[in-house]
Amino acid sequence: MNKKHLTVKKLDMDNLQDVIKLQQKIINGLHPDEQHFILHRTKEDYIKSLNGKSSNMLGVFDQDELIAQTIFIMPQKDEARDIPEFRPDIPNEDLVLYEAILVDPAYRGSSLMKRMLEYIENHALDNGRKHSLIQIAIDNPASWINALHHGMSITKVDRDPADGVKVLYLEKRIHHSAQPAPLSLNAQNSYNLYLGENIHAKIPALFNKMQYLIRQGYHGVGLNKETKSLIWQKQERANTNILNFSNIWNNKKVSSL
Ligand SMILES: CC(C)(COP(=O)(O)OP(=O)(O)OC[C@H]1O[C@@H](n2cnc3c(N)ncnc32)[C@H](O)[C@@H]1OP(=O)(O)O)[C@@H](O)C(=O)NCCC(=O)NCCS
Repeated sequence: MNKKHLTVKKLDMDNLQDVIKLQQKIINGLHPDEQHFILHRTKEDYIKSLNGKSSNMLGVFDQDELIAQTIFIMPQKDEARDIPEFRPDIPNEDLVLYEAILVDPAYRGSSLMKRMLEYIENHALDNGRKHSLIQIAIDNPASWINALHHGMSITKVDRDPADGVKVLYLEKRIHHSAQPAPLSLNAQNSYNLYLGENIHAKIPALFNKMQYLIRQGYHGVGLNKETKSLIWQKQERANTNILNFSNIWNNKKVSSL
């Protein structure tokens, strides 16, 4: 992959076939146990997103080839929105929701998901949005690690009401200011959830532990690579203080697309 050739653009109906082709390629590459990582969308679903008013798509291209894509939704007032069980208190007009994030396996390992979220976040801010939401299967760490690195926090852990899959809900209060102010952590307000060398081996135990931490007023806010842990931060006031300091834990330089 030559990253210099990657370009990003908002997708339209001309990209319909490429979008479906990339989804099929990713579905074919997922193990049967991983098929729930993404909703398998139909052509009609994608037409809605490519034509839609509130639903949009972003794509990353290597020359002419579509190699990554994301649906992002900026719901309108009084419109029924996806994941209504998460933050129903926030008005539609403040929200941007991320869905169907796909990266061609040949292009993984460069945090393209995180970079797409950064790009969309700026667009959403320009459209007056203040808060981003995403739902991710708990056994899909590649996805929730990217969301944490993007500065989103795990604030709800539950079963998806539609299919019972164990999911994490992450959110971020978004704003135009550059770097969040570094926060000092101490033993009283933070908790290290050890993930170890093999996250997948830990996943069966994570659901109950994460639910417990959230009940105790903690949010999952970042990864500490040295201690191989997921960092939880006690909230001053539950659900009202979404902290954003994942960059503290992630020293990797993010190059622009
Ligand atoms: C999720 C997805 C978009 C991420 O792709 P990407 O942006 O290239 O992500 P990367 O491969 O750069 O990985 C990001 C992080 O996850 C970690 N990671 C990647 N694959 C992993 C795995 N199988 N197990 C555990 N961690 C993993 C990486 O180490 C990296 O962490 P680090 O930056 O701290 O080192 C891609 O894996 C994908 O398309 N998956 C299938 C579809 C899907 O699940 N979409 C998400 C729906 S919400």
